[in-house]
Amino acid sequence: MTTLGTPLSSHATKVMLLGSGELGKEVLIALQRLGVETIAVDRYDNAPGQQVAHHSRTITMSDPAMLRALIEEEKPDLVVPEIEAIATPMLEVLEATGSVRVIPTARATRLTMDREGIRRLAAETLDLPTSPYQFCDSLAELQAAIDAGIGYPCIVKPVMSSSGKGQSKISGQADVAPAWHHAMAGGRVSHGRVIVEGFIDFDYEITLLTVRAKGADGQIGTHFCEPVGHIQVNGDYVESWQPHPMSPQALAKAQQIAKAVTDDLGVGLDGQSSGLGLFGVELFVKGDQVWFSEVSPRPHDTGLVTLTTQVQSEFELHARAILGLPVNTALRCPGASAVIYGGVDAQGVVFDGVADALSVPNTDLRLFGKPESFTKRRMGVALAFDADVEVARTNAKLAASKVKPRVA
Ligand SMILES: Nc1ncnc2c1ncn2[C@@H]1O[C@H](COP(=O)(O)OP(=O)(O)OP(=O)(O)O)[C@@H](O)[C@H]1O
Ligand SMILES: [Mg+2]
Repeated sequence: MTTLGTPLSSHATKVMLLGSGELGKEVLIALQRLGVETIAVDRYDNAPGQQVAHHSRTITMSDPAMLRALIEEEKPDLVVPEIEAIATPMLEVLEATGSVRVIPTARATRLTMDREGIRRLAAETLDLPTSPYQFCDSLAELQAAIDAGIGYPCIVKPVMSSSGKGQSKISGQADVAPAWHHAMAGGRVSHGRVIVEGFIDFDYEITLLTVRAKGADGQIGTHFCEPVGHIQVNGDYVESWQPHPMSPQALAKAQQIAKAVTDDLGVGLDGQSSGLGLFGVELFVKGDQVWFSEVSPRPHDTGLVTLTTQVQSEFELHARAILGLPVNTALRCPGASAVIYGGVDAQGVVFDGVADALSVPNTDLRLFGKPESFTKRRMGVALAFDADVEVARTNAKLAASKVKPRVA
């Protein structure tokens, strides 16, 4: 698709985002700039991306019948999943019948929506290094898996969950039952499967943003951004920066792993290697050793930093790649991002301290416009660039700390 249309005309190029949070909002803005007609779908009204799209629809995206009806009614050229909680088997059906193209492929969205699909693909099919793991359906199976070799410390996660929900670290036997119950309460769907993973004592973790995009010759190539370093607290990202320094050996391994997994996820149901778009490949690194953790077939939250560091942000890269356009993954300047949490549970909060935050040198802000704040909900992000990545980190955190959401 190298011919683009005029939005709101009969020759529009139409793209539907399934999920319209802060990451989808930036993808939508990038698409708008290319004159693409956009449809923002979410489970609630006035989601961040719905505020910047031509059309907004609110449905339960995990309901296959609703999803099918919406896609058949809107007839988008591309369907772009932004979240995991989608009826992905229905996307496979629609893609198989030629009704729609799913980004990167419907198969990739199904495999990555639960930890079992992607972990078995990476470790068992592609033979990539991962933490040792077992899938368990009961507390007894969990205890048995730990005793039989996973050992302590380990991490338990519901197979369907994100942002650290339902996740806990087990240091000894006393933690096993509480971890099981925490996982049961925190999973996305009420079925009791968990993954237990051996704890990797990594030096640092990175997201390797990896893009499958067409070059001038029409062939799909793989492009890597500079590694994004990040810090997670309780499984949720609080700070990221780019570039994260790596040894040449570790970087080469990281790129090999990312290439292997994105090559595979780029293969559709038809066996064609036609999947396009950006992926966030999460990796653990210790010395020159690299482990695959997981992958998002879409922009990654830690990649928000690229809004200030790259010539084309991860969102612009995704927009261009999916439209079949060439990309440029070059770094413009080192930089950092720091998350702004809601701090309060309230509707329609106001933000104090914005001018103070933007007085910190070389900073920028994104306030996502979420209608409702929760104490631990990500409401915005502060960005900073500097030739010295450590200075950028300090400034991003300082700017974030100055923004104070409060009840109106
Ligand atoms: N096996 C492990 N060993 C050590 N640390 C781990 C392990 N698994 C997860 N972690 C830590 O927990 C974080 C969150 O884990 P993971 O990415 O699997 O969950 P998630 O809920 O999908 O998080 P997110 O949605 O934020 O990416 C990781 O980024 C890492 O810091
Ligand atoms: Mg993760």
